[in-house]
Order: sequence, then C-alpha cells, then structure tokens
Amino acid sequence: MESRATTESLAEVTGDWLVVGIVEGEEFSPTVSALDVALDGQLTRLREAGDLTGKLGETLVVPDAPAITATRLLIVGLGDPVRLDIPSIRQAYNTAALQVSRQPKLSIACAIPTVEGNSLSLDDTAQEIATSFVVGCVGPGVYQSEPGRHPFASVTYVLPENARSVDLEAAIELGNTLGEAINLVRELVNRTAADVYPETFAQRAGQLADEVGLRCEIMDESRIRQERMGSLLGVSQGSDRPPRVVILRYNGAGDGDPVTALVGKGVTFDSGGLSLKPTASMNTMKSDMAGAATVLGAMTAIARLKLPVNVVGAVGLVENMISGSSYKLGDVLTARNGVTIEVLNTDAEGRLVLADVLSYVVDQKVDRMIDLATLTGSCVVALGENITGAFTNDQTWCNEVLAASTRAGEQLWQLPMDDEFAEQLKSDVADVKNVGTRWGGASIAAKFLEKFVADVPWVHLDIAGPSFVEKGSPQQDSGGTGVMVRTLVELLTPED
Ligand code: BES
Ligand code: MN
Ligand code: ZN
Repeated sequence: MESRATTESLAEVTGDWLVVGIVEGEEFSPTVSALDVALDGQLTRLREAGDLTGKLGETLVVPDAPAITATRLLIVGLGDPVRLDIPSIRQAYNTAALQVSRQPKLSIACAIPTVEGNSLSLDDTAQEIATSFVVGCVGPGVYQSEPGRHPFASVTYVLPENARSVDLEAAIELGNTLGEAINLVRELVNRTAADVYPETFAQRAGQLADEVGLRCEIMDESRIRQERMGSLLGVSQGSDRPPRVVILRYNGAGDGDPVTALVGKGVTFDSGGLSLKPTASMNTMKSDMAGAATVLGAMTAIARLKLPVNVVGAVGLVENMISGSSYKLGDVLTARNGVTIEVLNTDAEGRLVLADVLSYVVDQKVDRMIDLATLTGSCVVALGENITGAFTNDQTWCNEVLAASTRAGEQLWQLPMDDEFAEQLKSDVADVKNVGTRWGGASIAAKFLEKFVADVPWVHLDIAGPSFVEKGSPQQDSGGTGVMVRTLVELLTPED
C-alpha cells in the first residue's frame, strides 16, 4: 500500500473516501470547522440533530459530498479528548478501516487529528493510524472466493497546517511495517492446521528470513533428537506430521552487545492428545501456534526496521494428536536439560514444548528472554479475553516489558509466581509432573516453565485470551489478532 503525507485542506484532498476523526464536545477543531464551512454547515447540522456526537468508535457516512474533492466522507468518533490515547486511536481507525475496505483498490485520505491538552504526539498518532489501516483492510477470510475486505490502493495522510512532527514519514513507515507484521501473524493463525503444520510453518519462516535478512536454522526431527529434546518429541510422537524447531537470528548491534531471545509455542493443532478436548474447545485450536507466529512476525518487523539490537527467535513446532503412538498418561519424558517429567495430562503440552526450546535458548548464551504462548485457559479465566498475563523471575526485566506494553497500547497484567504454585508440580516418580490442581493454573504453568530458564532474566506472556477473537465486532475482525507484536517491537526499539 502506497502512503504519502500532505498539508492540503480536507476539502481539497482527493480520494474515494475521506476519513475524519472528531472528539466529543461543543467545538469542532479548526481543521474540521474548515471542512464544515466547505460543506456549507452540514457537519454542524448533523451534530445539532444528534447524529454526530464524537463518541468513541461511532461512525457516520456521508455517501456523497459534492462540495469537497473526495468522493465520500466517513466521520469517526474519537471520544473524550482528555482520554484520547493509543488504544482509542486504534479502536476508532480500525472501525473506520473495516467500513471502507469493502471494495477493492480504494484510495483513502485521512486527517491526522491533533487534540489540544493531550500528551499524544502527532507521530505516535500517525503511526497507530497507519497500523490500524493496514490491519483493518485485511480480514480473516483466507479461503473465501470473494474476499470481504480489500487492501487500500493508497492512503494520503492529511496534516493540520501548523503540525509539528519530528519525523512523520518515518512514523507512518513504522506503522505500516508493524501492520504488515501483525497481518502475517493473523494469516498464520487464521490458516487451517491442514495448511500450517510444523514443516510448512518452518518453510514459511525460511522464506521470510531470506526476504528480510534473518539467519534461519531449521531443525528436523533427527536434529531435534540429537538435541535430546525428549519433552517436545513426546508431544509430537502421536502425529503423522514431524516436528520442527526454527531458530532465527538477527544481529543489528555489535557482537558484545546483549542478546534478547523471543521464544514461541507453536502447537499447530492441539487436540489435547489422549486427554482429548471436547469439540467446542478444539474448534479454535489451529490458533495454538500464535506464540510462534508472533515471534516470527516480530522478528520480520525488527529486521525490516533494522533495529540496532541483537535478537534470537526460537519456535517449537508440533502437532498434539491422537494415534497408536501418542504419548500416554503416566509416561515420563526427559527434557533436554535432564529434568524428568511425569505426564498426567497430555493437554498440558505447550509447557512440554517450551521446556526444551527454552533450555536450548539458555545454552545460546542469551541475556534475557521472553516467551509467548497460548498456554492456559486459566489465564483467560483470570484476565478475560483482552489482557495478556505476564510472569517473571526478574522484576526489572518484567518492568521493562510492562512499560513497553503501555507505550504500545497493549494490555498486560502481571500474575504471581509464588513458590507454593511449584509445590503442586512435585511427582512421586519423576522430577516434576506437567500439571497441578485447577486453581491458579496459569501460575502453575509458569512455575513449570521456570524450571527450564536457569538464571536468565525471563518473562512469560500467556496470550491464550487475546491472540484470537472468536466473534468479530465493528472494531475488530474475528480470528488471529497479532497481539504483542507492537509491544515486542517497542521493547526492542532503543529509547531516544
Ligand atoms: N492450548 C491450550 C490453552 C488454551 C485454552 C489456549 C483456550 C487458547 C484458548 C493448552 O494447551 C491447554 O490445553 N491447557 C490446559 C492446561 C491444563 C490441562 C492444565 C488448559 O488450560 O485447560
Ligand atoms: Mn493443550
Ligand atoms: Zn495447547
């Protein structure tokens, strides 16, 4: 998608649609007032009639606006000006994008709002609008013969006349790159498990690595066996699809500079194994590789943005299936680091996959790690569908991740790691068991993972809730969301 910036007036800018945001309140901003004058007071009349309130996410279509150059006009509410922030920009402009992406190859003009008395910068606003537009014009209908959404041909960003920008073009570029990375994650999540399985995921990672300039190592089953990843192999042994482990490397900083690792759970389908899931719970389990997809998405964005950091991405790819060769309840697996694990629920497979990948990454001498995993239903019970759970063995590192998520406008909430959660993992026959009781299940899972991270500062992000939307809304399509891509890129962008 082509984008450009202009300071033309809203009445003069060309486009199939002009998208204009307005805040709640008595007065229009100077730019909107000028548009109102060009429209002969139509906006004032609509506001007086109660059709134009500026409430967050409310839209009003003016299908034919002959008084202005753009063909049609879409007004979107930005809500209370005092509370305007990145998430409200996202909500408003995603809603707008979902409405104007129903026809192919449209050119869009969009006013970048500036709101008095608000700390939001023009660049951050423009960046978020760009991301929302790239994300909002791609839908989940990967397999539809007539797609419901169409990418825009071009977007023209209209700046207020006296706009002060540090580097607007760079902000828009960054926003577009993030949007594309998010769409990659969404596509991988939305594709079926018949389409995306360990080998095809690894292939795709290899192709993307070539495109953006990442080093990529793909471990096949025998190589994984050589690494003694017995825990990951236990999960994958019931499937006809062999496992893969993919290691991506990006060196944007010096050899002596710190290395951050991003680790992802890539269960391309989670049937639950012999501890079989009921149908309703299995319906969306093609999305159980969202953590791995997020690592791949973030790595491509980091490489394309040429961030001055060193990053290792590592994903464990398996299918959790049922067959005569499935791993069984009571089996004892030996993880790569020598820890023996008694399997008492084959549906607690994500932690078994991550155990070996985390231990591999620890041996790569990384300085800090983040893992992303659709790990537990418990986390969704605790925090709901929109908030990611964070768990850590190092509060300083966790604080950095929390701060980055706030800047990126993604919701993250830290959950406890008390030792009593680990008590439940004691086994009579092995070093640990893979499940505890029902209560505090997200923390129990995190304590299990902690046994494989040695003393490396580590944050575990449980994205079981926010990585997938079951029912779409006017502001967000159903399916994969690409949550945490923004946060990871923000975290790895040096602050100026
Ligand atoms: N992939 C699931 C977790 C999940 C649940 C992701 C809902 C997305 C939405 C995971 O492998 C799993 O099955 N976890 C079990 C753990 C339990 C057996 C201890 C769970 O949460 O029920
Ligand atoms: Mn499971
Ligand atoms: Zn799973």
